[in-house]
Amino acid sequence: MMRDYCSFKALAARRRKRRKVLLRSLYLFAAIMYTALTISGCGNDNGQIGDFRYRSDMADQPSFHKHEDPLPPVKGTVPVAGKELAISDSLAATRVANPVERTPANADSSKFLYETYCTPCHGLSAKGDGLVAAKFQRPPDLTTQKYRTTPDGYFYYVIRNGRLIMPSYYESIKSRERWLIVNHLRTLQDK
Ligand code: HEC
Repeated sequence: MMRDYCSFKALAARRRKRRKVLLRSLYLFAAIMYTALTISGCGNDNGQIGDFRYRSDMADQPSFHKHEDPLPPVKGTVPVAGKELAISDSLAATRVANPVERTPANADSSKFLYETYCTPCHGLSAKGDGLVAAKFQRPPDLTTQKYRTTPDGYFYYVIRNGRLIMPSYYESIKSRERWLIVNHLRTLQDK
């Protein structure tokens, strides 16, 4: 069949139209490829294109992650229990007086803290027969004469800093709790 090329105008218009369709499909193809590559994880897939969030993952949230450090206290914060005692060494520690009195009212707290933190190695009666000690290293019997005459401040120091293979409880046991534990050791020594 003969084509109708009667006017150059019609020919040009038809060409323009064809080019437009071609360009439009090229744009569409590029857009599809971009989306596909981003979603499939090529490049930096943070679940977002521009302002559009196409995937939300439980991992992307402002809450704390495993082993993340706690937030630092707000600037100017003062500890309610006062500043931590500055004790330079074990000798200086022996001169520090125990500010927490041993009373029937706080005896339970002392016992609870001792049994939570010290029993695994030192045993319920501080004789060094804890369950862990059997597989680890037997600690000394803390009810002997030597430890009866050891000043409170020294025990406080050992809890805070650890000693040789005994771990430090600086982070997990607060200052007042350390003194409470010392008081429970005295109770055990009195038995
Ligand atoms: C993981 C086991 C373990 C735990 C838990 C533990 N200790 Fe010890 N502790 C030891 C060992 C082992 C020694 C002996 C260290 C050494 O070689 O001098 C020791 C020694 C001591 C001494 C004697 C230090 C000296 O100079 O003679 C004291 C006092 C003491 N521990 C108190 C405590 C108290 C109080 C707690 C609880 C807050 C505690 N320990 C928790 C293992 C432990």
